[in-house]
Amino acid sequence: MNRYRRSIRSELACAALALLVLVIASPARAQDATYIGEAKCVVCHVEQKPNFAHTAHAKAMRANPANELQAKVCEACHGPGSRHVKNSEDKSLIIGFTRSWGTPIETQNSQCLACHKGGQRLFWSGSTHEMNRVACADCHNPMAKISDSSSLRKASISETCETCHAQQRTEFRRRSHMPVPEGKMSCADCHNPHGSVTRPLLKADSVNELCTACHAEKRGPFLWEHAPVRENCTNCHVPHGSNHDKLLVAARPFLCQQCHSPPVGHPGQFYRADQTAAAAIQGGTQSARIIGRSCVNCHSAVHGSNHPSGTRLQR
Ligand code: HEC
Ligand code: HEC
Ligand code: HEC
Ligand code: HEC
Ligand code: HEC
Ligand code: HEC
Ligand code: HEC
Ligand code: HEC
Ligand code: HEC
Ligand code: HEC
Repeated sequence: MNRYRRSIRSELACAALALLVLVIASPARAQDATYIGEAKCVVCHVEQKPNFAHTAHAKAMRANPANELQAKVCEACHGPGSRHVKNSEDKSLIIGFTRSWGTPIETQNSQCLACHKGGQRLFWSGSTHEMNRVACADCHNPMAKISDSSSLRKASISETCETCHAQQRTEFRRRSHMPVPEGKMSCADCHNPHGSVTRPLLKADSVNELCTACHAEKRGPFLWEHAPVRENCTNCHVPHGSNHDKLLVAARPFLCQQCHSPPVGHPGQFYRADQTAAAAIQGGTQSARIIGRSCVNCHSAVHGSNHPSGTRLQR
């Protein structure tokens, strides 16, 4: 009798344990929900209907869905909504992409990546943005057509980046800069915001390959190389903006003198302090060789030369 009771008890315990395991292992409550269709969503979310209609997603998903998931429209991104409709207070019942809604970033991003893995996002996983918990929705807003392409949060790529990267925004407002603020180029001409194999998110294998993709005449190979050019354009240039001309890291002749301390091939006092334009005002004797392009007045082929007698980079 005792033995019988004990075995019943243990069977009950087993059943309870199994139930517990089931409850714990069962997916989160939101995932019990079922799809209810776009028409029901926009009954309450009235303002989303007209704004969303102009987006690339609306066009693709409504008019020409490629699969079951796309045909769910709203719920393709936000997840099935049957339980949310019954209790819209509980934030765990629908996937929200606004910071205030509080859905974990990983959950948000995996919704988007379900359809957008690979391609430009091949290196998303482990990228600086992913590691710093940046969400797809920090740059993209698919709920309205704000940009001409790529469903961005702002009208242009660079404006989108500059919402977070204020320092680079400032750098591009310096006297010398590539035409990014003018809209002829964007941050994405040089960076892949979704990740790349080159730091910092560069679109090429090295800085020089990046720069010479547009400035091909600086690529070489040259008969007479200038070592720092071969090594890295950023030895002398900054990419985003400089208050010296031609995006230089320092004014000439100091730029050159950072590496070429006098005496070089000519007298060391070639550029004495009292030969500068500033000193001339105070009665010094300004040297014609120090003004304007300075060293580059004579060493004009500073990026390298293919002239048979281009040694010393003078032609
Ligand atoms: C019965 C009305 C109702 C229906 C139907 C409804 N919602 Fe909601 N939804 C709400 C309310 C209320 C909120 C909370 C709004 C708030 O707190 O700002 C909300 C919030 C949301 C949010 C979070 C917004 C944010 O701040 O990030 C999303 C996303 C959302 N709903 C999507 C949907 C989708 C998709 C459907 C269709 C499957 C749907 N809703 C159907 C009423 C509804
Ligand atoms: C391609 C994915 C996608 C689809 C499809 C989509 N949404 Fe969204 N939804 C988002 C993202 C991303 C945000 C966050 C936008 C933001 O930050 O303002 C968002 C925001 C929202 C919000 C909160 C808006 C706010 O500004 O507070 C609501 C409500 C919402 N969506 C409802 C809907 C409804 C209804 C539909 C269908 C008509 C829909 N969504 C279709 C991705 C999507
Ligand atoms: C169910 C699949 C699906 C999901 C989920 C999805 N998308 Fe899309 N997305 C598409 C389709 C389809 C297109 C249209 C592709 C085309 O035009 O070639 C598209 C296009 C885009 C584009 C280009 C739009 C343009 O205007 O050029 C961006 C950016 C984008 N999606 C971002 C997102 C983001 C961010 C999310 C998550 C919030 C998301 N998508 C979720 C299917 C999806
Ligand atoms: C830091 C900003 C940023 C983040 C984060 C971001 N994107 Fe983008 N995305 C962009 C920009 C900028 C473009 C336009 C690129 C261009 O035109 O060269 C773009 C383009 C796209 C496109 C259209 C072009 C293509 O590759 O087909 C899709 C789709 C897309 N993003 C999806 C995503 C998804 C999914 C995520 C999250 C995993 C994401 N993006 C995160 C900035 C971002
Ligand atoms: C939501 C904020 C946000 C937006 C929008 C954003 N970024 Fe970032 N970005 C970050 C954070 C956070 C980091 C990592 C911390 C840091 O370096 O400041 C980062 C880092 C970077 C880096 C340095 C990567 C490295 O490996 O050091 C680059 C390059 C970059 N972002 C480019 C872009 C571009 C291009 C865009 C626009 C398409 C953009 N970001 C939009 C938040 C953002
Ligand atoms: C002409 C190509 C080019 C453009 C356009 C460009 N960058 Fe960069 N960016 C670079 C290079 C090259 C570096 C690496 C600099 C280094 O190694 O010293 C860099 C570095 C960065 C970094 C890392 C921190 C730093 O400043 O060194 C961030 C963040 C960044 N860029 C953001 C942006 C943003 C945002 C934009 C658009 C407003 C932008 N970049 C436009 C080439 C570019
Ligand atoms: C996507 C194409 C592109 C890439 C990549 C690019 N540039 Fe440029 N660069 C331009 C354009 C366009 C101009 C403006 C030319 C003009 O005004 O005639 C320019 C101008 C310049 C100038 C002259 C600036 C001035 O004030 O006159 C320098 C120096 C320069 N780039 C250096 C670089 C360096 C260094 C890199 C790599 C970090 C680089 N560029 C990458 C397109 C590019
Ligand atoms: C040793 C320093 C140095 C290095 C390294 C360097 N540059 Fe320059 N760069 C200069 C100087 C100095 C000027 C101004 C030349 C002048 O005034 O004629 C200049 C001007 C430029 C200009 C604008 C004027 C023109 O000649 O078209 C571009 C574009 C440029 N550099 C691109 C590059 C690229 C790309 C690299 C890397 C492959 C690079 N530079 C590496 C010193 C350097
Ligand atoms: C980052 C360091 C660095 C900077 C900055 C630099 N150089 Fe050089 N330069 C070198 C190196 C290294 C060599 C090769 C020295 C050697 O082969 O002995 C060199 C060689 C030269 C040569 C001799 C070439 C030959 O055929 O012997 C000249 C001329 C020259 N540089 C001019 C300049 C001028 C002008 C500037 C400024 C626009 C400048 N350099 C900036 C590092 C630099
Ligand atoms: C008026 C023309 C002129 C100016 C300006 C000039 N140089 Fe030179 N430089 C020359 C000549 C000519 C030679 C070759 C001397 C020789 O072969 O003995 C030379 C040689 C050099 C060499 C090679 C030295 C060696 O020993 O092989 C370097 C490096 C150099 N100059 C750097 C500079 C720097 C840095 C500046 C600016 C501070 C500068 N030059 C300004 C004319 C000039």
